[in-house]
Amino acid sequence: MSTGNRRGAKIVIKQELGRSGLMVAPLAFGGNVFGWTAEKAVDRARDQVGALIGASGKEIVWTSGATEAINLVAACWGRAFLKPGDEVVVSHMEHHSNIVPWQMACDAAGPTLPVIPISDAVSFG
Ligand SMILES: Cc1ncc(COP(=O)(O)O)c(C=O)c1O
Repeated sequence: MSTGNRRGAKIVIKQELGRSGLMVAPLAFGGNVFGWTAEKAVDRARDQVGALIGASGKEIVWTSGATEAINLVAACWGRAFLKPGDEVVVSHMEHHSNIVPWQMACDAAGPTLPVIPISDAVSFG
């Protein structure tokens, strides 16, 4: 496929996506209606999620999933506020994604990371 054909194919795909109602555009790209519409939709979703949890839409941060979200909190909040003498308590039941970021934050900021054991009956204690 030549460069010209590829460019033509991309134009057709964009036109078809537009007709299908799907929005494919970078956010904050006001240069076209898709970018503007996508940005508005994301802002609206931020406000709706914020309302659910008693926060402002401006406080909502989208992440790719739980791992990225926990890494973000541990790296930003954790390193800003954790200090020696604090404890970050996790359990043996935590998913890997909820242990490693806290280990790193504790290593950086000085708290200890006690782990709550889980019994064979899968209860805490
Ligand atoms: C309990 C639990 N926490 C965190 C994760 C990681 O989530 P994500 O893939 O959204 O980063 C998973 C993934 O299966 C999970 O089961």
